[in-house]
Amino acid sequence: MAKTWFITGTSSGFGKELATVVAKNQDTNLVAAARHLEDLAYLDEFDAARIEKVIIDVTDEAQIKAGVAKALERFETIDVLVNNAGLGYFATIEESDMDQFRYMFDVNVIGLANMTKAVLPTMRAQRAGVIINLSSALALTTLPTMGYYSATKYAVEGYSDTLRQEVADLGIKVMAVEPSGARTQWSGRSSRKVVPAIKDYAAFSDSVANVSDSVTQAPGDPKRIAQVIFDQANASEIPAHLPLGDFAYHGGLQNLEGLVSEIKSREDLSLSTDD
Ligand SMILES: NC(=O)c1ccc[n+]([C@@H]2O[C@H](COP(=O)([O-])OP(=O)(O)OC[C@H]3O[C@@H](n4cnc5c(N)ncnc54)[C@H](OP(=O)(O)O)[C@@H]3O)[C@@H](O)[C@H]2O)c1
Repeated sequence: MAKTWFITGTSSGFGKELATVVAKNQDTNLVAAARHLEDLAYLDEFDAARIEKVIIDVTDEAQIKAGVAKALERFETIDVLVNNAGLGYFATIEESDMDQFRYMFDVNVIGLANMTKAVLPTMRAQRAGVIINLSSALALTTLPTMGYYSATKYAVEGYSDTLRQEVADLGIKVMAVEPSGARTQWSGRSSRKVVPAIKDYAAFSDSVANVSDSVTQAPGDPKRIAQVIFDQANASEIPAHLPLGDFAYHGGLQNLEGLVSEIKSREDLSLSTDD
């Protein structure tokens, strides 16, 4: 039976490229979710018998429930859920707007959690499924002005690591994908930017002011990233973590190795607080 993929945020970037890979594949059904159906016209050149378009703003629980119900009515199963919808925020911690942070958390974390909750009963009943959560290289390491974005993606990592343990015996796999900067709208229209006004943070002004350049100049190729995600979701051993690109791999490892050596350097102190 054809596997059904359900992908959020398919209007652009990774979601669009992955939806295209799934739509081209003869052995898969696609449920493409987006906030505006007109953004999904690019799917019209593929086999309509295997594609369902649904409107989902991931901050809207009613739309999530309706979208999942429509997918099940059409294809009966959901085999792969890709929690891709997300946005960014570039600002120093001190100058960040907390309403913007709350909204980003609603999209990047609570939206992902509500989508997952809506799909889990189906995957549990099937005793099979793959949940792919778009995390970030910035959940393996951090950079100035990306603090609140990293906070949402570190949340996605902790959530994914726990979920993986809870569903391990139910045939459900959980993969966190950690891409480096890639040429999508994430650093363009999907991000808010606050160039530091406080002089003490002036060193970070250029990196915020120039961030939109990543839309065309970031090293990551969204088409290659989408293909790797698709291939790994179909691999016999599905990775728990999938860092993609140099910054995620080398930058992530450098940070994690530093963390391990810092923890080990105070072993006696750490162990001194237990009876
Ligand atoms: N590109 C990178 O450098 C990079 C690196 C690491 C991780 N990521 C992550 O990868 C994921 C995809 O981003 P992208 O790089 O492909 O950027 P993108 O081109 O901006 O795509 C983001 C997608 O999320 C959707 N979206 C935003 N808010 C939404 C909401 N409330 N409800 C439903 N959909 C919503 C957007 O829809 P609209 O078109 O309607 O706004 C768009 O389809 C995100 O989770 C991002 O954090 C990106």
